[in-house]
Amino acid sequence: MTAAVAASGLAVAYGGGRPALERVEFELAAGSSLCVLGPNGGGKTTLFRALTGELAPLRGTVSVAGGRPAYLAQTERTRLDFPVSALDVALMGSLANGRWWLPARRSDRATARAALDRVGLADRAGDRFGELSGGQRQRVLLARAIVQDARVLLLDEPLAGVDPASAERIERLFGELRDEGRALLVSTHDVDSARAFDRVLCVNHDQIAFGAPADVLSREVLERTYGAEIVVLDEPGPDGTVRAVTVQHHHHDH
Ligand SMILES: Nc1ncnc2c1ncn2[C@@H]1O[C@H](COP(=O)(O)OP(=O)(O)OP(=O)(O)O)[C@@H](O)[C@H]1O
Ligand SMILES: [Mg+2]
Repeated sequence: MTAAVAASGLAVAYGGGRPALERVEFELAAGSSLCVLGPNGGGKTTLFRALTGELAPLRGTVSVAGGRPAYLAQTERTRLDFPVSALDVALMGSLANGRWWLPARRSDRATARAALDRVGLADRAGDRFGELSGGQRQRVLLARAIVQDARVLLLDEPLAGVDPASAERIERLFGELRDEGRALLVSTHDVDSARAFDRVLCVNHDQIAFGAPADVLSREVLERTYGAEIVVLDEPGPDGTVRAVTVQHHHHDH
């Protein structure tokens, strides 16, 4: 197997201090999905920033196949608050392919519209981005990541602030993107949703666990990952995973 995404002995630090994230070691194949779990401050965003190359490893290595990954940053919903339409934002995905100084081609527009349709927002293409709800903005940014057509997608809490019906649609979309042969990394606070992924990575400053959901989603691993922030709802089911929810987490922009 050639990994689409890999980290080995990875440690990442901000400035000269103690690393924010250490001892990260995993591989993800093309056409598979990874759920990244961890408490607030656990290092999920730090991992993504190391994978985009924005933060250089203090130790160890990262590799991402196929050039620049598409990255949906956690904080971007509020940053893009200027007078552009939803379609304009989705179109920005094609700028990543190197034609930013030219007017959008008809084919780019068609691609951007198709991506808005995939996130259930075809009818909002002309709406001003800044006047959409937080969840709708998040879906537009997901459309932009799709337009980028990268082999690897890094989505940092893409479902935060998204209503349940849209979340369901987007989770279906994750499956489609994976079936198209992309590698998909998704961070979330929704422990229950992790079982739908091919792999789960738990981080809490250190890597706590990596593997198939049935192996990773145990009471012991979840308690080490979240400490007091986890509530385990019941005992393991036949697949060995437990049902659990996190408490006390808050999203940065609500
Ligand atoms: N720009 C920064 N400068 C210094 N330290 C930082 C910076 N960003 C994050 N950190 C620290 O790195 C650690 C990991 O933070 P990170 O943002 O990766 O956590 P997270 O898992 O994404 O949390 P959340 O669920 O709240 O998004 C935290 O201790 C945090 O304080
Ligand atoms: Mg984060």
